Amino acid sequence: MSARRALIAGNWKMNGLRADGLDLARALAAWLDGEGSEAAARLDMLVCPPATLVAPVASVIAGTRLTVGGQDCHAQEKGAHTGDVSAWMLKDLGCGHVIVGHSERRTDHGETDETVRAKAAAALAASLVPIICIGETEAERDAGQALAVVSRQFNGSLPEGATGTNVVIAYEPVWAIGTGRTPTTEDVAEMHQRIRADARACLGDGADALRVLYGGSVKPGNAAELMGIADVDGALVGGASLKAADFQAIASACP
Ligand code: 13P
Repeated sequence: MSARRALIAGNWKMNGLRADGLDLARALAAWLDGEGSEAAARLDMLVCPPATLVAPVASVIAGTRLTVGGQDCHAQEKGAHTGDVSAWMLKDLGCGHVIVGHSERRTDHGETDETVRAKAAAALAASLVPIICIGETEAERDAGQALAVVSRQFNGSLPEGATGTNVVIAYEPVWAIGTGRTPTTEDVAEMHQRIRADARACLGDGADALRVLYGGSVKPGNAAELMGIADVDGALVGGASLKAADFQAIASACP
């Protein structure tokens, strides 16, 4: 870990009805102001609920240290795009961040680097920080292509106007998502170093400020080891972000 302030982000994915989602958000906000205040002094905590819960979560956490973000946005500001949500709409609800290019979007909705870059650009235009997700599949890793794939995704997904502070990168190896499997600490370090080097090539010294999160089966039991790796600046957490105690334990383990 470095001088960069860590970000612990929870991606709730398509989980949570109103009662459970609001209870979880309230519990996390209360923790940051109480028992978790030491963690709150050194890191930022973000939850990204499903679109249906963004507004109610934003209202229950207003005035607390917990922040809320979206899980996806459309590349356009408005228009005939049934079912989609724009970055401006998320901003209007009180979001500060939006996840773009999650591997589940890339797989389920055919999103390409170009799509992701356009969404990230929309986020910047709406004054949101895009959390741009990149990561190799298991087949790509087995073929020795992990570094090349992640470099290609990074360079293809970073929007014009990106700086070290207005975007966040999340390295999420696809094969580690929801599987309970994680890369070795050496592999995570190698991938994050590559991303930092790629960032330096585009952003110059601004790359020093860029937060690069690790995501994929982060749990209380492995958080200290993963978060302790140089160039890892926090976590993007799926399953374990749905339980307040687990998410809090991950934050507490983050140096
Ligand atoms: P899990 O933590 O459930 O593996 O999910 C990771 C993820 O996809 C976060 O965006």
